[in-house]
Amino acid sequence: MKKVLIALIVFALAPSISLAGPKIEVLHWWTSGGEAAALKVLKDDFAANGGEWLDMPVTGGGGDAANVTLKARIVAGDPPSASQIKGPTIQEYDQEGVVAPYNIDAIAQSEGWDNLLDPMIAAVHKCQNNSGPYCAAPVNIHRIDWIWANKEVFDNNGLSIPTTWDELNAAADTLKAAGIIPFAHGGQPWQDATVFEAVALGIGGNNYYKNCYVKLDENCLRSETTVKVFDQMRKLANYTDPGSPGRDWNVATGMVIEGKAGFQIMGDWAKGEFTAAGKEPGVDYYCASTPSNNGYLYNVDSFIFYKTSDPDKQAGQKLLAKLMMGKNFQKVFNLYKGSIPARLDVPMDEFDDCAKKSNADIKTAGASGGLVPSFAHGMAQGNTMKSALQDVVTEHFNSSMSSVDAANALADAVLANM
Ligand code: GAL
Repeated sequence: MKKVLIALIVFALAPSISLAGPKIEVLHWWTSGGEAAALKVLKDDFAANGGEWLDMPVTGGGGDAANVTLKARIVAGDPPSASQIKGPTIQEYDQEGVVAPYNIDAIAQSEGWDNLLDPMIAAVHKCQNNSGPYCAAPVNIHRIDWIWANKEVFDNNGLSIPTTWDELNAAADTLKAAGIIPFAHGGQPWQDATVFEAVALGIGGNNYYKNCYVKLDENCLRSETTVKVFDQMRKLANYTDPGSPGRDWNVATGMVIEGKAGFQIMGDWAKGEFTAAGKEPGVDYYCASTPSNNGYLYNVDSFIFYKTSDPDKQAGQKLLAKLMMGKNFQKVFNLYKGSIPARLDVPMDEFDDCAKKSNADIKTAGASGGLVPSFAHGMAQGNTMKSALQDVVTEHFNSSMSSVDAANALADAVLANM
């Protein structure tokens, strides 16, 4: 009888004991088809390792809405256990004292992250001003300055991929004359800024981009070159369709996939949509870098971990960090996501030609001074300055503001937020 009782008690307790295990609540903005497919790789890995994943998606490409939600939760003293995060914001949150006390650094040390990452990328993920312990983990490197073109539309109209901005404008004119929407664009501030930075890098060159959007030099911002960048933005605005304002980026990608529009200028998460639709580069679509002098605008997706007293969540943070930097995970995830692995030792042979181009171009750009951080995706500036720049770009794109006024407004906005 006593044995039966003990057995019953053990049985009754068993479910609660087996429930305790790694747990994670993840705040992110990966809700499009391609993004969700990529994230599922991580969720499945986490579950396969006995973890419980609490999903907290905040819709809205580029993460502006997610960042507002994240900030609100942090201010309320209720941060998630992990969230998507970009470059400089890692340091901002560290200085606010909300980052987990570096409990993933032990994982980073035992897994040898210093040897697996480019030193520049590694530093972004180290707290205490980029030189302390690891407090965040990178999952990929996205490139921003891409053109995605529908192959049939381009071929049928006798167009090849433009190698200068004038050629791009000429191609767009041809499409417009043929009654095809040239430029698939979603009129949202972050998308306008995404296009703007590709144009700025291309027309202004690598040093111009660094001086204006990394160093925030006033004379650079007010310069004749910035005026030319805005002139090109005005041309692009005229190549969009009336349905553009407010359109989500993946809907714009869908227009290219379906041949309703000629091309989109967007980071390579757009490729994730082509992949999810079963489309192949060179067969169904072309990928090409936007015209520049060996430039490469980079954007790394990272995850950061917040203070928690829950041991299950602490275990979840360690497990997630370890999985994210896993060699096989970085391959499979990035095959879906459109980006390339952050880890340097992942073989590229299973990747498509666009990813191989990205992987080759990042090295060329790195060696020739063209590797620059995206401001539209929070790699060059924190959220406040990013928004200040973005607001001017979008105001110009959606009005008849002159290029000279826009260049001056950009400089004024920077000075007001210094
Ligand atoms: C970027 C992010 C990408 C992709 C994109 C659109 O900021 O780095 O992974 O999600 O936004 O949502």
